[in-house]
Amino acid sequence: MWEGVLGCLRGTAPPVPSGPVRVTIGNTHRERFAQRRGGEPAASHPPQCASIGMTAATKNRVYLGIIVALLLVIVGLAYKFIVAGSTRGHDDGRVAIVLEPAERALMLREMREFVVAIERVTDALARDDLPAVAMAARAAGSARAHDVPVAMLGKLPLEFKTLAFATHRGFDAMAARAEAGATPKETLVALSTLLQQCVTCHARYALATTAVPSGR
Ligand code: HEC
Repeated sequence: MWEGVLGCLRGTAPPVPSGPVRVTIGNTHRERFAQRRGGEPAASHPPQCASIGMTAATKNRVYLGIIVALLLVIVGLAYKFIVAGSTRGHDDGRVAIVLEPAERALMLREMREFVVAIERVTDALARDDLPAVAMAARAAGSARAHDVPVAMLGKLPLEFKTLAFATHRGFDAMAARAEAGATPKETLVALSTLLQQCVTCHARYALATTAVPSGR
């Protein structure tokens, strides 16, 4: 059966339609479709089409089915890669993102760099040294986000990526404001807003690795 179907699909496409064609602008397609729906295999079909009773309309439906199936696969992959990521439940109720050990190490290193940036920002703030604030904040800005490999990005849920990029951008904004002459108090408010992103994400997400079956 399948050999017949595949052989038929591989056969030359039937020149549409057989029989007298009335080509009138406006309803050409409908007429052709009506003729094909007639049910009989078109004369120019490969013989195997007729033997398995595959009409041109059936053939079109099979093609349509294949296209729809491929589209569904593409949409499914896009959803998994962009929105869902690679996650499972964590013991403490958070969502655990499942990463390779090296990817987890990279993420945790970035996290520790966040702490370094915050330590430098607060130190500079305590001395009212706004150029130093700008330099420390810039080091944790969006430029750092480009270090993340694409394969790893695909494992992060959309909400996580949004929060992560917002945090990097928060550091950029703090640097820009410090350079533009923001007061230490304004910078402190910006820092506090930024820390809320850290808290929000830590409350929702944990990490798990492919190397350890459960937990971290
Ligand atoms: C988009 C989500 C997200 C944001 C935003 C975020 N973190 Fe994290 N961070 C995590 C996750 C997930 C872990 C792993 C936690 C776990 O497995 O329990 C983590 C771990 C850490 C760790 C532990 C590092 C280690 O070596 O174990 C530190 C420190 C940390 N984050 C600091 C910060 C700071 C500071 C900020 C804000 C400037 C921040 N994080 C923003 C998701 C985030």
